[in-house]
Amino acid sequence: MPIDVAALRTHFPSLTHGLAFFDGPGGTQTPTPVAEAITRTLTGPLSNRGLVSPSERNAEQAVADFRAAYADLLGVPARSVVHGRSATQLTYDFSRHLAKDWRVGDEIVLSRLDHDANVRPWIQAAEHTGVTVRWIEIDAATTELDLDSYERALSPRTRLVALTAASNVLGTKPPLRRIADRAHEAGALVYVDGVHYAAHHLVDVPALGADLFVCSPYKFLGPHCGVLAGAPDLLEALQPDKLLPSTNEVPERFEFGTLPYEILAGATAAVDFLASMDTADAADTAGAAGGSRRERLTRSLWSLHEHENALRARVEDGLRALGDAVTVHSKAADRTPTVLMTLEGRDAREAQAHLAARGVVAPAGSFYAHEPFTALKLHDPALRVGLAPYTDTEDVDRLLDGLAAFL
Ligand SMILES: Cc1ncc(COP(=O)(O)O)c(C=O)c1O
Repeated sequence: MPIDVAALRTHFPSLTHGLAFFDGPGGTQTPTPVAEAITRTLTGPLSNRGLVSPSERNAEQAVADFRAAYADLLGVPARSVVHGRSATQLTYDFSRHLAKDWRVGDEIVLSRLDHDANVRPWIQAAEHTGVTVRWIEIDAATTELDLDSYERALSPRTRLVALTAASNVLGTKPPLRRIADRAHEAGALVYVDGVHYAAHHLVDVPALGADLFVCSPYKFLGPHCGVLAGAPDLLEALQPDKLLPSTNEVPERFEFGTLPYEILAGATAAVDFLASMDTADAADTAGAAGGSRRERLTRSLWSLHEHENALRARVEDGLRALGDAVTVHSKAADRTPTVLMTLEGRDAREAQAHLAARGVVAPAGSFYAHEPFTALKLHDPALRVGLAPYTDTEDVDRLLDGLAAFL
C-alpha cells in the first residue's frame, strides 16, 4: 500500500509548527508513539534489570524488546544486537576491540565516501598499532567508488574493510556485497556504516555481507542512540576491556554501564512505527495489518522507497529547472534521496538562512564528510536536502520556491 503521508504526518507533533524539514540525514522528527514509549518506560515502575520485582522485570523487558525489534529491522539474531550511545561511539569501541588483534604490518582499507565516524576511529586505531591504511578512492565525475583502487588496496594482509552503505552527503550506495565478498576472499572483516542507508532501506546485514553493521535510530524516527549488529561468532570471539563484575555474556559484554531503558523502549517503538507506515493507521503497532514484524517492515519500507523516489524526482526536476545556478553533486546511479548542491557564486549558508526564514529547514555544511568533500574539492559548505517519511509535495514545492527566490 502506498504511504498515506497526510495520515502519517498527524503522528508528528513537530510538523504542526509550520516547518518543512529537509534535515533528515542529520536526524528526523519524532512521532508520538516513540515519545510515549520513552515516557511510559521512564515513569515506570522501573529499576535496574532483574527478575525479582515488576520494576526490574520492566527493565529486562525493555532490553529484550529492543533486541527483538532490531533483530527484525536488521535481519539478524537478537543476540547480535548491541546498544550504544551513538554510531560514532560504537565504531570507536569496536575499532579498539578489533585492533587488539592487529599486528605491525597489517593493513586496513577505508573509503573516501565515508562520514568521518567510519574513518577517524580506524585511522587512530591503525596509528596505535602500526597498521597501514589504504583507500578506496571516489571517481569525482560519477561520485561512485573507484573499484580499481579497491583492488589495488586489498592484500593478503588486509584485516578490515570499513565502508558506508550510503554516503550521508552524496547519497551514493556502493556495491557493498561485491566489495564485501572481495574483502572476505582476502580474509578481511567488513565493518559497514549503515547510518544513512538504514533510514531509506530495509537492511539485511548478512545479505549485505557485513560482519559488523552500525546504524542510528534517530535517523529513522527514533531517539538519539546507536545500534550495532554483529555476526554472532565474531561477537563471541571479541574480548572487550570490561569491568570485572559485569557479565561476559554476548551482547552485554559490549554495553558498558547501565542501559538507558527508556531510550531502548523509544528505539523499539520507532521500529514498530516504521513497520506500520504503509497501513491506514500509522500507529498500528499491534500489527493488525498482518504478518510478522519483519514482513511488515519489508512492505512498509518498500512503500517508503516508492514515496521517497517520487519526491526525489520532483526535487531533482525542480533543481534542473533552476539552471546553471545550481550544481548538484549527487550523481551516482544508485543512491538515496539525499541531494548535495552548491550554488554558483553564492554561499550555501546564506541559502540556508534564506530558506529558514521561510520555514524551510535545509542545512549547509560539510556534515562530517571530510573525505568526500576533500576528494570532490568542495572547499565551501554545501546545501544538503534529504527526504524523510513525512516529507510531502508541499514541502518540496516550498523548498524549490525558496531556492528560486534566493537565486
Ligand atoms: C553516514 C553517517 N555515519 C555516521 C554518523 C554518526 O552517527 P552518530 O551521530 O550516531 O554517531 C552519521 C551522522 O550523521 C552519518 O550520517
